[in-house]
This record gives sequence, C-alpha cells and structure tokens, in this order.
Amino acid sequence: MPAITEGRRSSNRKVPKAKKPKQLKDVQERRPTVRRPGPRGWLGRGRGEANVIQPVDEWRGTTIQVCGLHPFSVGTGTPMIGVPLGLQLFTGATVCADPISWFQDAGLISNPSVFVLGLPGLGKSTLVRRMAAGGAGMGNLPLILGDLKPDYVDMIRALGGQVITLGRGRGHLNILDPGEATAAAERLRVAGKEKERQQVLADAHGRRHTMVSALLTILRKEPPTDREESIVDRALKVLDETHEGVPVLGDLLRVIQDAPPEVRAVALDRGDDTRYRAITEDLEASLISLTSGGRLGETFAHHTDVPMLRDRPVVYDVSSIDDSDTDMQAAMLLACWSAGFGTVNIANALADAGLEPRRHYLVVLDELWRALRSGRGMVDRVDALTRLNRQRGVGLAMISHTMSDLLALPSESDRMKARGFVERAGMVIAGGLPGAEMPMLTSAVPLSRAEQELLTSWQDPGAWDTGTGRETEPPGRGKFLIKVGGHPGIPVKVELIESERAINDTNKLWHPETVFPEPDESNPVFGLDNAGNVDTKSGGVGLEEGAA
Ligand SMILES: Nc1ncnc2c1ncn2[C@@H]1O[C@H](COP(=O)(O)OP(=O)(O)OP(=O)(O)O)[C@@H](O)[C@H]1O
Ligand SMILES: [Mg+2]
Repeated sequence: MPAITEGRRSSNRKVPKAKKPKQLKDVQERRPTVRRPGPRGWLGRGRGEANVIQPVDEWRGTTIQVCGLHPFSVGTGTPMIGVPLGLQLFTGATVCADPISWFQDAGLISNPSVFVLGLPGLGKSTLVRRMAAGGAGMGNLPLILGDLKPDYVDMIRALGGQVITLGRGRGHLNILDPGEATAAAERLRVAGKEKERQQVLADAHGRRHTMVSALLTILRKEPPTDREESIVDRALKVLDETHEGVPVLGDLLRVIQDAPPEVRAVALDRGDDTRYRAITEDLEASLISLTSGGRLGETFAHHTDVPMLRDRPVVYDVSSIDDSDTDMQAAMLLACWSAGFGTVNIANALADAGLEPRRHYLVVLDELWRALRSGRGMVDRVDALTRLNRQRGVGLAMISHTMSDLLALPSESDRMKARGFVERAGMVIAGGLPGAEMPMLTSAVPLSRAEQELLTSWQDPGAWDTGTGRETEPPGRGKFLIKVGGHPGIPVKVELIESERAINDTNKLWHPETVFPEPDESNPVFGLDNAGNVDTKSGGVGLEEGAA
C-alpha cells in the first residue's frame, strides 16, 4: 500500500470540503431515490404491512462463548432450572421444568406439585415420564403408585427400578404388612431416637387400620360403624402383641373370633357371649369375604410377594385389572398408595434421625379421573395428599383429561375437592383442550384470551394425508402451556430424544408384530408360513454345512 504523502492528505482534506455542497447536490439530482421497506414492510393499507414482527430465534450458550456476540446476547425468558422439556414454541429457547426443581431450587412455585390436563393422546404421560426420568437423574425417585395402563413400566425398568405386578392371580399385597416399619423402628431404637420410633410404629398402625376400613367400605358400599372401627383398631393391637411374624387378614379375623377381653371391652358386649357374636357378625362376614376370595379376591389376604424398596424408582403395575372392575381398581390403588406412602414416611423418619440420606420422591398419579371415580374415599385420599405433599417431602404429578372429568363426580363435596387439586397445584400444565373447558379451567387457573385460543388450537385431530392414507400427527401432540398462577404461560413443545422412544410407545398393542406374534413353541399356530421358512433355511444351512 503506498504511503500517504502530506500533500495527498491535505488535498484529500481540503478539496472535497470546499466542493462538497455542490458535488452532493449534483449526485442527488442525478441518482433516483431508492425507497426501502421498513422492518414491518411497506406501511399503509394494501401494501402488505406486517402487524407482527417475527421474533428472532434464540439459542443457548455458555457465558464465555456468548459474550463474543455482544450486544445480541440476552438472558433467557424461560427458567433454566429443572428437567429440560423442549423448546419454547415461539422463541425456540430451551424450557426446563419439573415440580421438585421449581419448588426446591428455583423457588418458583409454592408447593412441589403439577397438574397436567389435556385431551387423550396428546402426550401428557410422555411429558410426565420425561419429568420423572429427568428427575431420577437429579436424585428424585419416581414412584408410580398404581399404573393403570401401563405407561411407566418400561421407563422404570430402564432406570433399573422395581416393577411390582399386582392383579387378580398376579401377586399379593398384604395390607397388614407393616413393610419395613418394624426394621426401621428397631434401627431407630438402637440409635436412641425414641420419638421417631414411636412415630414410625404409630404411622404403620394407622395405615393398616385405614386400609382395613377402606376395604370394608369398598366391599359393603358404606363405611364400617364406629364400633366396628374400634374393634378393628383394638384387634390389630392385640395381633401386634401376640402374633409372631407378619400377620395377614386371616389372623385378624381369628383374633376377632377368639374374642379376647381387650376387644370385648370396645365391642361393649357387657360380658355376654351371644351379644358379642351379634355385634361382630357383620364384621366377621366381611372379613371372611376378604380372606376367602370374595368380590375383591384374595389379593390382599396373603403375604406380600415383592416388598417395595425405598432407594430406587418403583412402579406398581396394576394394568391387568379390568376397567369395569371398579371396586378392585379402587381397592388396589388405595393399597398401593398406602404401601407407597408408608415407605416414604419410613424414609423420612430415618433421614430425620440422620440414619439415611434424605430422599425426595416424585409420586405420579396418572389417569387421576379413573382413580377418583373408582370408589369412595379416593377423592379424600388424593385431597390429603395434595395438602401434605410439601410436608412429606414428595413432589406430586397428577394427570387427568379435562376439568369436566373432575367435576363429573357424584357428590358436590367431592367435586369441590377435585377442583381444589387444580387450584392448589404449584403449576398447571395444559395441553389441547376444547373451548367448552375454558370457563371451568379459567375459574381455577387464570388464562388470557390468547392462551385460551392457543389451547383450543391444539385440540384438533391430525389431518388426513391422502398420499399415505394415514392421519398425520395431531397439531397439539407434545405441545403444552406451563402456567404458574397469574404469570404468562410458557408454551413448550416436548421434544423426544432417541433413547426415549423405546420406552415411549403407548400404542404397543396396535403394532403388527404384537398383533401377529412371531411363532414359538408355546404359540405354534401363528405364522406357520414363517415356521416353514425357518425349516427351509435351517435345511439349507445344513446342506451347505454338509457340502463343505
Ligand atoms: N412430544 C412428542 N413427540 C412425539 N410423539 C409424542 C410426543 N408426546 C407423545 N407422543 C406420542 O403420542 C402418543 C400418545 O402419548 P401419551 O400416551 O403420552 O398421551 P396421553 O396424553 O397420556 O394419552 P392418554 O390421555 O390416553 O393417557 C404416544 O404414542 C407417544 O409416543
Ligand atoms: Mg396417558
């Protein structure tokens, strides 16, 4: 590059200065003015003015890298604490959310619970599976206390957790089994923690008593009388003092039949044997039904086959129970909840005493509408759970279809309580919902008109693709609006990752390979053609081997 001489410099500086006004004027006169559209296009009617300016896509990066992009870097508008769910629908920013992280680490919600609403098949269980699997990576153990479909078994298995199968002829859950309460109480006694020990034992006793009453209620369609409740309570205490090992319902029945003085005292038989028999007759009949394969079968009357562990993810697979078998479903769910929360309480007591690390659990109640409708007492149990989950140290994820499902319960008090589940939830996640839902939903969670329109736009079914002859994916699949109180909702599209797809197939029964299973010895009828192929093949191989 030639050096700039003093002369050139001065001429550069001075000459244009003197001639500038004239030259500029000439140029302007010669060149036609070019008008360019602004950021909204050509302004004015009929010129295609854009009302909305498309927001720029957002990406996330580390502070060290992103600072080089100054001034285009900004803090994200979505919380970055919790399980990564997917991308914000409009900005493309990463969205992270799960009830435990948002409560414990971010302080964004007042209690660690989430209520997920949306029409069937839009991906509610998939969303909660993501939260549970991601949470497990952060140390929050998922507990699926009654999987009615089953939607979570594959995930729990993939996480190395415990799958407990229950159902008629498929395993037993002894409702009188104190679980690990006895062993935990012994550990607490050795450690000199008498208060915690008393609590664990009292909780185990109360839990067993509640379960016996719940089963009697389901069996008789009405709750047991006060006197019967006292008899069961006292008989359980007698059983604890006299019985060696873990008792079953048959042992409780025997104690009541034996009429020990403690039980007679609360039965108020006034020393009359005949009167005692008359007072305990109904109770005896109900217990006989529970122990000898009555309407609820023998599932609860034998020793527990697989005790629940408290240091790993657990799912109770109760999917074999038919939907029409509502009594059995209710009884099974109550028994699973009882066993699950018993285990959580023991874990808490041991952690309080410093004997074990503190564990947090994410309890998932999927298909809540089915659980609530399945029988008396279910609404109250969930109600208690939603109020106490913070104190118990558990996160809670509840899933249902619509508000109308919750409000279709027979009694007014149950309907009010069910509405409270949504109102009290720390965060509400809504997927595609019909317009008729909006008044009910907005009465529980404030939603702006734009948010309501977004939710109704996600309810449509997929379009019919004439090319492939199949329906395309529904537009609302995997799309959710995360609402925390009156804050603006965060719309998110849940993105499945490759390793998730295998545990995410809730349509297994509809796949051809399951409908027409591969032949095996136990199933020689299907695929005889295949069987022939196999034979030919092996023959061919044999020939080849022979020829060689
Ligand atoms: N984000 C997603 N991306 C792709 N596919 C998805 C996504 N979410 C769900 N799916 C698929 O959609 C189907 C239904 O999902 P899922 O069972 O989670 O729906 P659901 O809302 O829980 O339905 P239901 O109300 O009947 O329980 C599944 O086959 C699942 O693999
Ligand atoms: Mg589901």
